[in-house]
Amino acid sequence: KRMRVAVLVGSLRAGSINLKVAKSMAALAGDRLDIEIAKIADLPLYNEDLDPNPPAEWVRFREQIAGMDGVIFCTPEYNRGVPGALKNAIDVGSRPPSEIVWAKKPTAVISVSPYPIGGFGANHQVRQLCAFLDMPMLQQPEAYLGRVTEDKFGFDDVVTDEPLKNILSKIVDAYLAWLGLTKA
Ligand code: FNR
Repeated sequence: KRMRVAVLVGSLRAGSINLKVAKSMAALAGDRLDIEIAKIADLPLYNEDLDPNPPAEWVRFREQIAGMDGVIFCTPEYNRGVPGALKNAIDVGSRPPSEIVWAKKPTAVISVSPYPIGGFGANHQVRQLCAFLDMPMLQQPEAYLGRVTEDKFGFDDVVTDEPLKNILSKIVDAYLAWLGLTKA
């Protein structure tokens, strides 16, 4: 049975370059992996007061992630940090502590920016959260993808730019190999 991996895209924008990278990775993985983009846009802001009667969106999200074999974060950088929507999704999945959905899930973090630094700050903030959440992390190749612009993708949002395609292929292949090893 094929492994299932959730991609959390840290941008809610329809034209997001991070969403295009996520879709490109799904295309490059092909039938080797089931990649599902997890919806985070509708998650109510995490509030402990709601825990006794959690919103339906939280329950749906927690069940979706709990059923996954791995997680990929694909995120922009906002003010050198993690976008709030992604932090909220991570927080929602982390409660209640007895049902935490993140622990032990093989994880990769990809940051994407039109600017040269490639979202390094956001990438490492996500890694800091993952360390606490006990998520084993793909360390190489590093994926701070800078100078990524819309023209590097085709009409179907899949990467057409050869250098970017090569980088994404390497990341997908490394993640797949590692997923096989960690699940062996
Ligand atoms: C940005 N952007 C940005 N880029 C970056 O490389 N470092 C940063 O710290 C920031 N800060 C930032 C803050 C806010 C509030 C916004 C809206 C944007 C620019 C960002 O990289 C650019 O808008 C990307 O296109 C966002 O990713 P998506 O939405 O295309 O996936």
